[in-house]
Amino acid sequence: MIMAGTMRVNEEGNLEIGGCDTLRLAEEFGTPLYVLDETLLRDNCRRYVHALQKYYPKGKILFAGKAFLVKAMAKLVEEEGLSLDVVSGGELYTALQAGFPPERLYFHGNNKSEEEIQEALEAGTGVFVVDSFTEMEILVKMAGKMGRMAGVLIRIKPGIEAHTHDYIQTGQEDSKFGFGLEDVETMRAIQLALRSEKSIELKGFHCHIGSQIFDLEPYRLAVRTMVEFISRVKEETGFIAEQLDLGGGLGIRYTKKDNPPSIEAYVENIASTLKSSSEEKGIPLPELLLEPGRSIAGEAGIVLYRVGIIKDVPGIRRYVSVDGGMMDNIRPALYNAQYEASLANKAAEEPSSKVTIAGKACESGDILIEEVLLPPVEKNDLLAVFSSGAYGYSMASNYNRNPRPAVIFVKHGNARTVVRRETYEDLVALDQ
Ligand code: LLP
Repeated sequence: MIMAGTMRVNEEGNLEIGGCDTLRLAEEFGTPLYVLDETLLRDNCRRYVHALQKYYPKGKILFAGKAFLVKAMAKLVEEEGLSLDVVSGGELYTALQAGFPPERLYFHGNNKSEEEIQEALEAGTGVFVVDSFTEMEILVKMAGKMGRMAGVLIRIKPGIEAHTHDYIQTGQEDSKFGFGLEDVETMRAIQLALRSEKSIELKGFHCHIGSQIFDLEPYRLAVRTMVEFISRVKEETGFIAEQLDLGGGLGIRYTKKDNPPSIEAYVENIASTLKSSSEEKGIPLPELLLEPGRSIAGEAGIVLYRVGIIKDVPGIRRYVSVDGGMMDNIRPALYNAQYEASLANKAAEEPSSKVTIAGKACESGDILIEEVLLPPVEKNDLLAVFSSGAYGYSMASNYNRNPRPAVIFVKHGNARTVVRRETYEDLVALDQ
């Protein structure tokens, strides 16, 4: 079990989250069900904010909406005082519908359409994270025409790519995102932004080195690389970056083997490296921006599934099929992501049998967990898959025309629906 936040095994031997018995949640809201621990979501936001206050007061935390964005989450992020990173017109719209202050929005994306740029300008979006020279030209033109001032960060590829335990460093990063450190276009884009001071306010630079990262060294390297870049830009153009955005990426515990650094250690490391390298390079301390997604929402969420058919393949494995699968969590099929699970209605029992958790999609690859130890499983047991709060709902699909599950927030024994379950009518609602 990956117990996080308010999760515990209650007196009845059932898994509890947010003070709510998961069996009752499944009865009331149905399965599959995304359950998010509101207290842990808020705690994670606060830990980021406090760590930054402590180690680098000149900074901002942006929640990366791609990890999990619904109106209730935008509201929570707003209440916790964070800013928000959005990557599409749809995420922008969601945030605005939730009443999120547009000046605290950061608009990312390597291929923002002109419509999206216009919507973002009209809404008064705080900052555009510009990803290409063409985008800069479009933004200059459109902001100029609309008489708007657009805040801009330029996204740089620092030549560092990190995932979980290791990272690679290359001079020339092969990525669709951002500007190369040494590319001619990079300086051209900076010059264009500086020349366009009537419509563009260049604030600084952005980079993002990967996701589910456990090692802090690539972050220190990214900071040093970006500070060197800032110093070079200063020499060549006179522009002094006010902001440095280091993206997101801090890893979480999906299984017991995972041992990510704490939020505090992560922030402290980046902060101290930024202070020392800025001093070394003689540049004023930039404002530090961080964009965590997974490390805020991931461990705060579980998915509850009802166990259906149990099938033995003698001598090989026991398949335990559940009422969801790759449509509500594509990560195992897409990235071979590992998860832990337990039986929510037998949470106090010893896990003793090794099983494979299969989804219900018409596809052999729809395996949620290759191997997990559970107490003896029976039909109608309730399975809880841990650490499912990030990139589960946000990447969900209607594959096989399965309605997407509801999302609920739980806190102090209360549960509230933040996204209602889709119906069959919803499934055909767009069909002509
Ligand atoms: N900022 C930028 C510019 C990003 O591209 C990302 C994630 C983040 C922040 C947030 O990163 P986090 O703190 O959540 O690691 N679907 C994949 C993850 C893709 C992440 C893409 N970018 C998954 O399910 O693992």
